[in-house]
Amino acid sequence: MRTINIGLLGFGTVGRGVYRVLTNNRETIASRMGSPLEIKRILVREVGKDRGIDVPPELFTTDPRAVLDDEDIGIVVEVMGGIEPARQYVLAALAKGKSVVTANKDLLAIHGRELFAKAVEGGADLYFEASVAGGIPIIKVLKEAFTGNRIEQVTGIINGTTNYILSQMSDYGADFDTVLKEAQEKGFAEADPTNDVEGYDAARKIAILASIAFNSRVTLDDVYVEGIAKIKPEDIRYAREFGYVIKLLGIARETAAGIEVRVHPALVPCGHPLAAVSDVFNAVFVRGDAVGDTMFYGRGAGEMPTASAVVGDIVMAARNIANNLHGLTGCTCFEAKPVRPMTAVETRYYLRLRVLDKAGVLAGIAGAFGNNNVSLAAVIQKTTGAVAELVMVTHRVRESDLRAAVAELERLPAVETVANIIRVED
Ligand code: NAP
Ligand code: HSE
Repeated sequence: MRTINIGLLGFGTVGRGVYRVLTNNRETIASRMGSPLEIKRILVREVGKDRGIDVPPELFTTDPRAVLDDEDIGIVVEVMGGIEPARQYVLAALAKGKSVVTANKDLLAIHGRELFAKAVEGGADLYFEASVAGGIPIIKVLKEAFTGNRIEQVTGIINGTTNYILSQMSDYGADFDTVLKEAQEKGFAEADPTNDVEGYDAARKIAILASIAFNSRVTLDDVYVEGIAKIKPEDIRYAREFGYVIKLLGIARETAAGIEVRVHPALVPCGHPLAAVSDVFNAVFVRGDAVGDTMFYGRGAGEMPTASAVVGDIVMAARNIANNLHGLTGCTCFEAKPVRPMTAVETRYYLRLRVLDKAGVLAGIAGAFGNNNVSLAAVIQKTTGAVAELVMVTHRVRESDLRAAVAELERLPAVETVANIIRVED
């Protein structure tokens, strides 16, 4: 059987993992595939760098053309990250008919349409399993295993850093800043954690999942995003009293009025399968009209879990090449559905208020809710001195109504502050 040659663009955490998996499991993969897979060239920025792994030095190059123009390379694996020059390299590879495997969520969530068009034009495949939830094969599930379903909802814990931080806050009662600092010292959080803690990493991933689940292109700009920096230990404690845990969720839902796609912290009922997903683990909960409720769990990042997903894609691309096929699982965005504005979304809310503890205060607060169609489902009051902390969970309400009620609350003299508002996802 002929060897299928691979060119790697990048040899960092993921690239190294891909090399290890393809080397360690070479014979098994070749037997399963029917053809041996060989890494022929590796593009990096710096050739002489000590990479802590034994790789023939002649494989490394700093010249992208050494990969992109090599007629013997059938699969280009983009694991360098970022938008440019990764986008240009991927487009060039696809234009030449080379199949591309990428782990790059930034690229997919912003330029997916352009990349898929180029794949069709070049007669090549584009696979991107590792771009969402690392080792969890959720894209294959949505595109292939669940293709007979109408997907109603995809809800994921799709950022390991924030899940780790919230789990630690929950387990030890520590505050966000302390846990973030410890996570950075242990290498669980980046030196610049903005993308993770502000929800932008999860936003890219849920945009990709929503596009596949609902067959309609959802880009990063369509996603409503809130991060976890506002979560306080007291919110976690109160949530527990109500029977919930707090998680950063990526939520994509199809409604009769369009697609909802958002990332924000949320109260999740303790009995929900996502509530049990702790530390750096990821999980994606999918509801299909035929299959019902399902959940997929695993490591969302790291050298070997991510490499597992990349190598799975490489083998799919290689099988297609060996059989002179392409486009079997190409772009599935064949519809154009509207994305609902956040103000139109209906959900339940947790609110924590600091209010003066005196007669008539509760009546004023109840009035602000009542005036704006907000109905309360549960209330806790804790008093310390002259100030009371009032914690409430609402029934389902339209976000615009909730915002109007909060604006009215903030005008009440007895309300010192609306300290936090967190959505509740049942
Ligand atoms: P990384 O450790 O920073 O490695 C990037 C590699 O790309 C390095 O080898 C670097 O070369 C090379 N590179 C970057 N820019 C280049 C350029 N302009 N020209 C040539 N080479 C260039 O990144 P990573 O963590 O492996 O992530 C790679 C991709 O996988 C990203 O899209 C990321 O979002 C995605 N991903 C990562 C994980 C994870 O756990 N790390 C999980 C899921 C998805 P030098 O080594 O010479 O500097
Ligand atoms: N930074 C991401 C996370 C991993 O914390 O889950 C790469 O997508």
